[in-house]
Amino acid sequence: MGSGDAPMASSLKEFHARSIADREGFWAEQARLIDWEHPFGQVLDYSRPPFARWFVGGRTNLCHNAVDRHLAARRDAPALIHVSSETGTERVYTFGELHREVVRMAAAMRALGVRRGERVLIYMPMIPEAAFAMLACARIGAIHSVVFGGFASHSLASRIDDAAPVLVVSADAGSRAGKVIPYKPLLDAAIELSRNKPAKVLMVDRGLATFERTAGRDHDYAELRARHLDEEVPVEWLESNEVSYTLYTSGTTGTPKGVQRDVGGYAVALAASMKHIFCGNPGETYFSTSDIGWVVGHSYIVYGPLIAGMATIMYEGTPLRPDPGILWQLVEKHRVTVMFSAPTAIRVLKKQDPSWLTRHDLSSLRTLFLAGEPLDEPTARWIGDALGKPIVDNYWQTETGWPILTVAHGIEKTPTRLGSPGMPMYGYDLRLLHEKTGDEVGVDEKGVVAIVPPLPPGCMQTVWGDDERFVKTYFTSVPGKLVYSTFDWGIRDRDGYYFILGRTDDVINVAGHRLGTREIEESLSSHSAVAECAVVGVADALKGQVAIGFVVLKDPALAATAEAAQALEGELMATVDRQLGAVARPSRVHFVSLLPKTRSGKVLRRSIQAICEARDPGDLTTIEDPSALEQVRHALGGGR
Ligand code: PRX
Repeated sequence: MGSGDAPMASSLKEFHARSIADREGFWAEQARLIDWEHPFGQVLDYSRPPFARWFVGGRTNLCHNAVDRHLAARRDAPALIHVSSETGTERVYTFGELHREVVRMAAAMRALGVRRGERVLIYMPMIPEAAFAMLACARIGAIHSVVFGGFASHSLASRIDDAAPVLVVSADAGSRAGKVIPYKPLLDAAIELSRNKPAKVLMVDRGLATFERTAGRDHDYAELRARHLDEEVPVEWLESNEVSYTLYTSGTTGTPKGVQRDVGGYAVALAASMKHIFCGNPGETYFSTSDIGWVVGHSYIVYGPLIAGMATIMYEGTPLRPDPGILWQLVEKHRVTVMFSAPTAIRVLKKQDPSWLTRHDLSSLRTLFLAGEPLDEPTARWIGDALGKPIVDNYWQTETGWPILTVAHGIEKTPTRLGSPGMPMYGYDLRLLHEKTGDEVGVDEKGVVAIVPPLPPGCMQTVWGDDERFVKTYFTSVPGKLVYSTFDWGIRDRDGYYFILGRTDDVINVAGHRLGTREIEESLSSHSAVAECAVVGVADALKGQVAIGFVVLKDPALAATAEAAQALEGELMATVDRQLGAVARPSRVHFVSLLPKTRSGKVLRRSIQAICEARDPGDLTTIEDPSALEQVRHALGGGR
């Protein structure tokens, strides 16, 4: 296939302008970066706004582009480097070996009856089989839906209900900071709770935790793999707009949305980003510290680097064990050229002896990319100085699949600016709009970050099973205009650099993990003692934000003494742990006798949040009972 070389644009601004003015020409060129079994007849079908269909009629496959097509040139080169500092294991799979393992997993899935278009839910720790399972789904045209291993049974059950998978792939246990976390009991509880019970469960047994098997439903992967060692499973060629995967993400409501992605557009978008933004070359090593349960893990642990012919490191462990030099030790050992992490991981390292950053040879590393949450200036400056490498912030969402704002050093060496993720990437017609009027705001004025559709390739096609929700959620918040809202506030300086100022909705970001406060509120409310509650995200020096709960009890006597309040707080936290997972646990739960509400009964979460952050709570003319805010203040003062 063609090299995909676009005529060199002289600047990022020109490159961007062309991507909007001549969408079809621009993306047809980018499409040459991947293999097509059958060429597309139409670059973009935008006959049904805001639904965009890219590369219509083209047939391709994500697994082919990530694995098979590299066999000729690099069969014996590393492809997947799995490292677990939890189990002290390391295993390098070449492209040839990765291919074999993916085919075996695909054969096992087919033996369990999985067919094209059916859903496979993957609930796994960071083990190689998780990547095999994703790629195997892609190979046979099954739709994968990975659920983050940190989520517990209720979160998992609601995703099973929505995806209606024919198969769940899981493992006995994960491990975090030396503690084994059994997965199977959570999975069994989730299946028990769910309405759409999967017919089959495929279990990878790592030997970390014993587990019970349900006869007829649960199958052992080692056994199935052994039966299909040499079977051939050819790639299913899929029309570009068939569904590759869904990935659930939180929003304003308590029900997570299945972000649905296509095949061809996603492959092209990732290939283009690897070239223009991440500047990764075949044969080099990419290291993202994310998790396959999040979008960064999909795009930049599994698919992006492999599509680019790079080796990718899949790391199970924390940045601190066995010592705070572990990430850099891996960079040295595997000659990592491109690294991707989150600001929280860097803030964790900042608390350690800085000499950990200079004990390893980092000469291979070109750039450290950071994303997922705001990158504060001191953290950016600290890590940039310590490593002596460029730090590149990038802003995007589960919905978009690849960066919206960053700098694209493959196009132009645009300088980065501290505190700013950068400029709009090619393909995104970005605007900052006034919240009420929908008009564009000027330089240095705050607005909602919005994208004029069609969304570029790689972005979500729709909400799984709910086109109406897709349109209603994302395209109706700006009055009178069909624009996609990111639900982030932003501001632009006179040189065109954007700054992200936080969410416009009830989504919070804890250590780079996106959580919906409504889901946490629903979990707290399920406790029999709770009458009503509000959860807000509060600024935190390490995690960016933490969740804080305010609870009104049915019987205030239950928290009458300090001991009783403390015990109940612990019980409520345990409820969230059990239902949603420790990742969603509020850092504090305070008891109040009423919540600040408007006269029409809307909880004033923004005001509560402002008080928690010692800011002005804003316009309170609509508040029903001002003493409610006093209670919040008092609870914070007394509880600390
Ligand atoms: O609020 C923005 C924040 O994280 C949200 C998206 O989270 P998620 O769907 O998990 O996707 C993460 C993909 C990297 C955004 O709406 N966010 C993400 N990156 C940044 C950010 N906020 C500030 N700066 C960033 N670089």
